[in-house]
Amino acid sequence: MANAQSPVESFLAAAAQAAKVILETVEKDGFIHVFSHLDADGVAAAGIMGKTLHRLDARFRVRVTQWVDEKIIDVLVADKPQLLILTDFGSGYLDLLSAKAADFKVLILDHHQVAGETVNNGNFVQVNPHLHGLDGATEVSGSGVAYFVAKNVNAENVDLAPIALVGALGDLQDKNEERKLCGLNQLIVEDAVNAKLVTVEKDLTFFGRETRPIHKALASSTSPFIPGLSGEEDKCLAFLASLDIKLKEGERWRALRDLTEDEKKRFCSALADYLISRGLHAEVANLVGNVYVLNREEPWTPLRDAREFALMLNSTGRMDRPSLGIAICMGDRGAALEEANKVLEDYKKNITTYLSWVMEKPNRLREFEHIYVIYGESFINEKMIGTISSILVSSLENPEKPLLAFANIEKENAAKFSARTTEMALSKGVNLGGVMRVASEKYGGKGGGHNVAAGAQVPIDQVENFIRTVNELVGKQLRGEDVGSANNT
Ligand code: C5P
Ligand code: ZN
Repeated sequence: MANAQSPVESFLAAAAQAAKVILETVEKDGFIHVFSHLDADGVAAAGIMGKTLHRLDARFRVRVTQWVDEKIIDVLVADKPQLLILTDFGSGYLDLLSAKAADFKVLILDHHQVAGETVNNGNFVQVNPHLHGLDGATEVSGSGVAYFVAKNVNAENVDLAPIALVGALGDLQDKNEERKLCGLNQLIVEDAVNAKLVTVEKDLTFFGRETRPIHKALASSTSPFIPGLSGEEDKCLAFLASLDIKLKEGERWRALRDLTEDEKKRFCSALADYLISRGLHAEVANLVGNVYVLNREEPWTPLRDAREFALMLNSTGRMDRPSLGIAICMGDRGAALEEANKVLEDYKKNITTYLSWVMEKPNRLREFEHIYVIYGESFINEKMIGTISSILVSSLENPEKPLLAFANIEKENAAKFSARTTEMALSKGVNLGGVMRVASEKYGGKGGGHNVAAGAQVPIDQVENFIRTVNELVGKQLRGEDVGSANNT
């Protein structure tokens, strides 16, 4: 057909349709409830929607939570909103939403794999790259989807493009050889660059590249997580001393950006050797890549580098302070930022504590035939388990085995699982979204997500059965067998 739409065009048409629903609701002075996921991408998406609605002078409320379930939907519909907007989740829970919210106008702005069907009464509009043959794990994030809708609401919302990039990086959508955002994300990069809001540079991707003393930047690296150096400033000092890299210029600590080309080369190749000697070949490629600098942010703050901004948003979500992250995305650079800085510090301390706890005793990280499992039980906070899983997946011995981690949610008699896969397992056909959905449903839980990162909640007495089943299902996928996808339609 001569006038057939390309996948990108049809995705953008869906975003325009969603924008129309928002404008119509606001025109009638309807009350809008935005509901979003608590990770960096979800907080960014909530910020983008919040700003968009604020600019329209709409009546709205924003809430953030870790997952969608029946209880939460009951609470949402009890508010009787004229429009319910779900960002960065929802597509995995269509049957539930259709059963509980069929009488409400619902917008789902998501990039997770689709499971179930939307109610067919015209009330639901879903914008999701997977519905257009685009990859939601790598080409656009939840905040990116929200951004395309916002841009259709009003062109001035192009100034939210940097926030959408922050969300995409928070979801690790740059996990390719060049550590570069691609697909629909690249369109957002172009918007941000054209508006002079973002500059893209090729450099070391460490946090604190512009801001922190080199040994501190190295010690605070969690992407890659460098065993023996991450979290250990004194070892980092020794490492740098052995490379003959001067740490201070007079009284002032040097940052990575102050290194000469020659020093940078020495630093990179020594780090590469170090990673390889520990079997972390894949991580070498992660050292250098595209760095996204937010031009309007103050240098020396965590908001200047989009990856660091994402870490801050993640910290507010995971430490029960998402409203701080949302306020920052909406433009607050006063009290919210000051408070978020403290939250970020606490979050980093927690990560370091949890990582050393996991490594301390062998029974906390167990190896199965096809997977590794971290038994976080009641020690690791359930909101932090996803972060720990993301950090540790790339530093395990066998790169063919995905990592499953869980923490107990005592008051709900459940366990929260977070699964992350390695590139090698992914290339051999592992799809964790499907595995988590199928295995959790078998034991009365709920789960889903992306091929590379997925999660589930499971009754606590079913934890061992669930782990055994995940191990089996991953084994099947590695042998090329079909176990069912996240999409059960
Ligand atoms: O919670 P965690 O960070 O491990 O989740 C990984 C991915 O899987 C997230 O994108 C999350 O939205 C998704 N997920 C899901 N259903 C669940 C749990 C997680 O779709 N029950
Ligand atoms: Zn997301």
